[in-house]
Amino acid sequence: MPRLAVWIVRTALIYLGCGFTVGGYMLLNKGLRLDPNFLTWVYMHEELLLIGWMLQFVIGVAFWILPRFMTAPKYGAIELAWAGYIVLNMGVLTTIVGTWIEGPGSAAALIGRGLEIVAAATFAIYMWPRVRPFLVG
Ligand code: HEM
Repeated sequence: MPRLAVWIVRTALIYLGCGFTVGGYMLLNKGLRLDPNFLTWVYMHEELLLIGWMLQFVIGVAFWILPRFMTAPKYGAIELAWAGYIVLNMGVLTTIVGTWIEGPGSAAALIGRGLEIVAAATFAIYMWPRVRPFLVG
């Protein structure tokens, strides 16, 4: 497994753990009502699990498994993929902080979403040449 795939998948797993913990906290409060404002955690829960975990895991596995180039560099424009990884996680963290402080319509949350779109486009551009059929026979 290439080093960047290890980073992406491990980061995704950390978000999975955090997202489930927040989900468990909300579930607990649905029953016990210890925190009357427990639903304010739902934005963080969504961001952690939908983007931080699910999207990031898919990207990590795709990066690992898509056909590689026969000639060096094997993984293509890898700097682009690293940039996508960094920008994606800046986006997730900015969105989490923004929604936590000011809610889902805050400027920080919008900037975070913008970073996520840039990251998705970066990964798409990076992966495009690797999406191709095997030349068999
Ligand atoms: C990959 C796994 C998961 C994903 C993608 C996910 C996603 C979501 C989303 C999108 C919402 C918002 C739903 C809405 O606003 O109607 C939500 C709410 C919630 N989730 Fe999760 N979730 C996941 C796992 C979990 C787990 C493991 C737990 C509990 C341990 C949990 C507990 C909750 C609770 C308590 C709510 C609030 C429900 C409410 O509005 O009353 N989630 N989740």
